[in-house]
Amino acid sequence: MSQCDSHRTHARNLSSPETCFYFLKNLSYIYILCLDSGIAAPVFCGAVRKSTVSLEGAPMNPLAAALNDRLQEIAPFLLRVLSRKGKESYFPKSGILAQSMEAKLTEINATIGIALQDDGSPLRLSSLERRILLNPKKVFPYAGCSGLPDLRNTWKRLQQEKNPALAGKIFSLPVVTCALSHGLSIASKLFLDPGDRVIIADKYWGNYNMLVQERLDVHFDLYPFFAGEGLNLAGLQERLLAPGTGKKVLIMNFPNNPAGYTPTKSEMRELLRLIKDSAESGNDIVVICDDAYFGLVYEADVDTQSPFAYLAGLHERVLAVKVDGPTKEDYVWGFRVGFVTYAGKNLSEEALRILEDKTAGGIRSSISSSPHISQSLLLEAYADPDYAREKREKYALLQSRYKKVKAILAANRERYAPYFRPLPFNSGYFMCVELAPGLDGNTVRKTLIEHFQTGVIFIRGVIRLAYSAVPEDKIETLFENLRSACEMNLHA
Ligand SMILES: Cc1ncc(COP(=O)(O)O)c(C=O)c1O
Repeated sequence: MSQCDSHRTHARNLSSPETCFYFLKNLSYIYILCLDSGIAAPVFCGAVRKSTVSLEGAPMNPLAAALNDRLQEIAPFLLRVLSRKGKESYFPKSGILAQSMEAKLTEINATIGIALQDDGSPLRLSSLERRILLNPKKVFPYAGCSGLPDLRNTWKRLQQEKNPALAGKIFSLPVVTCALSHGLSIASKLFLDPGDRVIIADKYWGNYNMLVQERLDVHFDLYPFFAGEGLNLAGLQERLLAPGTGKKVLIMNFPNNPAGYTPTKSEMRELLRLIKDSAESGNDIVVICDDAYFGLVYEADVDTQSPFAYLAGLHERVLAVKVDGPTKEDYVWGFRVGFVTYAGKNLSEEALRILEDKTAGGIRSSISSSPHISQSLLLEAYADPDYAREKREKYALLQSRYKKVKAILAANRERYAPYFRPLPFNSGYFMCVELAPGLDGNTVRKTLIEHFQTGVIFIRGVIRLAYSAVPEDKIETLFENLRSACEMNLHA
């Protein structure tokens, strides 16, 4: 055993309550002072060694340390991009869950944390059961921290089908979260430390403020989303190639909320080139792809695949994190099911499984597991022969509302111009308008409610219209009401 190994073993064994740690960091060592033995020893060199001590100076859980050690050997890039909390994350392979798994086939199983009827099926209330067509076993027990294995495999297959660019690329098994908000929360915590900066365009879902910025104490490095009629790729480039190299974390959301914009095929190529250039210049890059509105693309020149599919094979210094789910894709907002999936050029299945484990640890330590009934319902739907046709029908409905919005804006360009200007949009649920100078968005919004029975969102300087929620025959009235509300306020 090398001196390093013996220190490592020693550090992992220091878990007795009377043992305290005081650590001093210099460039390559952590000095651990074991108060019970009076020894101050430099333990471990480099990232792995630092990763055996938690933020508070307590010893890191040996399972987390083992995962980090393995990452150091097979994918040091991943260890570099994980946050302190990401390094500390692990999925408990012993304890209640593991012991229950081992006892799964026993005749008298007194391990599991649910109650059973005498026939071995889940104990349940018939007032609930009689309302549900599914087998009680698919509804009442826990679904497991990472989600139902069948659902994870099915979603992976669906991701492949929807993103042909994933063909031949290795990517993780999706881990089930309690919908996308939870997935975003878990994934960002794995890669962001307090004080870190996140590169993000100024058109973003408002809940990122709480989910990411405020919860994790990070800063948003905002750049304008649009330049003219397309994406502001120069703004992104400036941030990706800012002087000094290190870790860069990006959040990208296409189709975008609130803008309703997805990169055209040529914009997508350029965007990927910028990320690759930044990686080639020495940056380690994590791209979190929020694919909440995936699939709702209405124009032929717009890229229909997730950036994740291309990022998966882009560069050894790029980790792609896909946060997606059926919330909007399958119109099940209240089901609370989502997925987190990982990929990166040359990342092995083993390295990706370690990320799955760390993600599952985040789930176990927050909500423990996601709803079983929703996962079972989705699995049944994905196997239903009508599923694909029904999805096409709902897509067609939203697309026809989109086309109606485009037609009304085109027909009224001059009438609307003194009051508002539509921002580019081509996908998703929403579009935004910028009000003419002299108009206050919040006042216009209130006028719409008070005088026109019309609700819109005013967010960071623009009015967002969710045409996804407006029947086609009311879309013209929506815009006419907006025009009238603006007119009232402009001449007030
Ligand atoms: C861009 C974006 N990401 C994520 C979410 C959260 O989705 P979920 O309801 O699955 O948590 C939303 C919801 O509105 C969203 O607009």
